[in-house]
Amino acid sequence: MALNMTFRQLKVFESAARNLSYTRAAEELHLSQPGVSMQIKQLEEVVGLPLFEQIGKKMHLTVAGREVYAYSKSIGHLLDEAEVVLNELKGLQTGRLSISVATTAGHFATRLLAAFSQKYEDVTISLDITNRASLREQLEANRPDLVIMGQPPEGVEVESEAFMENPLVMIASPNHPLAFERELKLERFEREQFVVREKGSGTRGAIERFFKEQQVKFQTGIEMTSNEAIKQAVEAGLGLGIVSIHTLELELETKRLQVLDVNDFPIQRYWYVIQRKGKRLSPVAQTFKTFVLEQAREFIRVP
Ligand code: PGA
Repeated sequence: MALNMTFRQLKVFESAARNLSYTRAAEELHLSQPGVSMQIKQLEEVVGLPLFEQIGKKMHLTVAGREVYAYSKSIGHLLDEAEVVLNELKGLQTGRLSISVATTAGHFATRLLAAFSQKYEDVTISLDITNRASLREQLEANRPDLVIMGQPPEGVEVESEAFMENPLVMIASPNHPLAFERELKLERFEREQFVVREKGSGTRGAIERFFKEQQVKFQTGIEMTSNEAIKQAVEAGLGLGIVSIHTLELELETKRLQVLDVNDFPIQRYWYVIQRKGKRLSPVAQTFKTFVLEQAREFIRVP
């Protein structure tokens, strides 16, 4: 004999049996009372036995009702469990991950994402490398899952966690007269021209704050929106530069640029992983965040 009962009937019956009341089952499942009694009547027809009996004013389960109740509870638990397991699988292995990072963080974010996607092959990742102003807008609109930047933005409610130091160092061409001098005083740079990032860059903001705090004049020369362009300009002798050490791996290895030994340097900053306050991260995004907090350092090579 095949029992052609539906999950729906079982679910309605489970609630009615637990509450011993059609009315309460209807409330619990947002159904009408006649809706509940119809589902249970159909179930009784499938089973071929009455499931409830009314004695006086009280509802009771029949012997058959008690049996069906026990099975309906187990089936309900199994379905809940299946849902959790399947969601986790879907979330972890086939989800989408949308990450936005500050220009400078782009130098290591690609390596980080590559390592992550090797581990979670079916995750589709989108990476946006952009400036601070745009990151702020994105956070405000709650678009990316997570943002990596040098300092939490002002005026947006976010949750941020620092995961690594981000030292800004002063660089020069190896032919610069100061290239190999020791313990240079900051005042020596008042008359030097610096090739700088655009206004709105986190690096630029941090440099200006630093010189202001030290009460030393800071002269900006050419402005550029990329660290690559700044390094090339400095190498070509267009001025000095101040950039995150995380952008310098190749140039220091090949000795195309020299880090100057300046007092009070490096300017110490931190990298943060940031999300809009109250955002509920998907399982993939949560896994990526943990990965950044625990393992990001391994993917950054500082010469
Ligand atoms: P950037 O630096 O904006 O200068 O690239 C990152 C940051 O400070 O947020």
